[in-house]
Amino acid sequence: MALSQGRLGKYNPEKPTENRITDIGPRHFWSNFPPVIQQNYGKWAYHDILEPGILVHVSETGDKVFTVRCGGSRLMSAENIREICDIADKYCDGYVRFTTRNNIEFMVTSYEKVQELKKDLLSRKYISGSYKFPIGGTGAGVTNIVHTQGYIHCHTPATDASSMVKAVMDELMDYFTGMTLPAHVRISMACCLNMCGAVHCSDIALLGIHRKPPIVDDNIDSICEIPLAIAACPVGAISPAKTEDGRKSVKIKEERCMFCGNCYTMCPALPLADKEGDGVTILAGGKISNRISEPKFSKVVVPWLPNNFPRFPEVVDAVKKIIEAYASDARKYERIGDWAERIGWEKFFEKCDLPFTEHLIDDYRLAYDTYRTSTQFKFTGKAWEVSRAAGGIDD
Ligand code: HEM
Ligand code: HEM
Ligand code: SF4
Ligand code: SF4
Repeated sequence: MALSQGRLGKYNPEKPTENRITDIGPRHFWSNFPPVIQQNYGKWAYHDILEPGILVHVSETGDKVFTVRCGGSRLMSAENIREICDIADKYCDGYVRFTTRNNIEFMVTSYEKVQELKKDLLSRKYISGSYKFPIGGTGAGVTNIVHTQGYIHCHTPATDASSMVKAVMDELMDYFTGMTLPAHVRISMACCLNMCGAVHCSDIALLGIHRKPPIVDDNIDSICEIPLAIAACPVGAISPAKTEDGRKSVKIKEERCMFCGNCYTMCPALPLADKEGDGVTILAGGKISNRISEPKFSKVVVPWLPNNFPRFPEVVDAVKKIIEAYASDARKYERIGDWAERIGWEKFFEKCDLPFTEHLIDDYRLAYDTYRTSTQFKFTGKAWEVSRAAGGIDD
């Protein structure tokens, strides 16, 4: 595919539509394929994981391509990307790709080159000591954490993305560079319940939540479309009101509000971020593949943990508890959700040593289907905690 050759000239603010190029779409992916990928497109016979982070694909023609996968921080400087390009120039004829979980993949056509590349990648560190290109992320381990903007860029977060992801990955590094789990464990993170990304469908998900209702700013009539704010509320907590001096406003029924922050997304006059209130929820058991069991949503298993910056020790600890219980108890090929459903969630809470509280019991519209309409359950301490949380038994 032709690349643009000439310079396009300077943007002229006096004539904004002159020389304006639009609707050209992304560059065709074919132009970025390494030759071995172009030549064997659609002809792959089988693949193998040679060791953590290193794959080989073999084509019907006998051609082989070796892929070395390394972790990326997702949020990267241009300098960081130039370094990736230098590595690609040196070993891969200038070709490189990023995965759907923001890992970086370098492809080479001989096993000797894999060894050189591996040595080079692992020798590169930041001055603070972290690996720039840790190799791993394949097979039954923990790969990169899909995450969001956090305090770096967004205005609606209840927690931070990049720092929490760094804290969790530091702790789980051995699972990134190893393949020792029963199946893949996908961890993802979103800083508010807009859930940009994959938290609703991951084995373990970290999610920013608020615990206090929005504050209504007096200027609401000049900066918001009030009907939009009212319609944004999933529980009908917002209704029209007038200020003392007769201006249009809203009132929020605080006992109805569950702090989703949707109204703030619609209306800048309804901020709700709060240092003490905001924190992290943990969900578990989601998956998106159709392998054996159908895709599942993740379920809330820890209602709230504090935003303990910068290393989130409580969050890291809860994630580790879940992974370690799963690693020691699940059967081969079972994802976390498959395991939890087979042993029963009351056992899941017991094995992961997580408390069960009333916050975990669904109370939104279709909640009924999530209750136990059966006498089948196991006598665990956690089963009693559920009954207690639901108000079914007294202590
Ligand atoms: C039928 C619907 C969908 C299918 C089949 C699908 C499939 C996938 C698959 C296979 C992955 C890679 C997962 C992995 O590496 O473990 C992925 C990643 C992802 N999906 Fe989906 N997905 C669907 C819908 C959605 C929707 C509706 C959203 C968001 C609203 C979403 C957001 C994402 C994100 C953010 C990632 C991670 C991307 C990255 O790593 O850069 N997906 N999806
Ligand atoms: C008007 C609405 C939106 C705006 C203005 C917006 C803006 C942005 C910006 C500026 C970034 C880059 C952040 C960075 O520099 O790190 C970003 C990343 C992202 N946004 Fe949005 N966003 C919007 C809606 C959404 C929605 C609705 C979703 C999901 C359903 C979403 C999912 C994501 C994800 C997954 C990323 C990370 C991508 C990556 O680098 O892997 N965004 N968004
Ligand atoms: S999850 Fe929420 S806070 Fe985080 S980037 Fe998306 S909209 Fe912003
Ligand atoms: S935060 Fe959510 S639940 Fe509360 S008033 Fe706003 S939209 Fe409604």
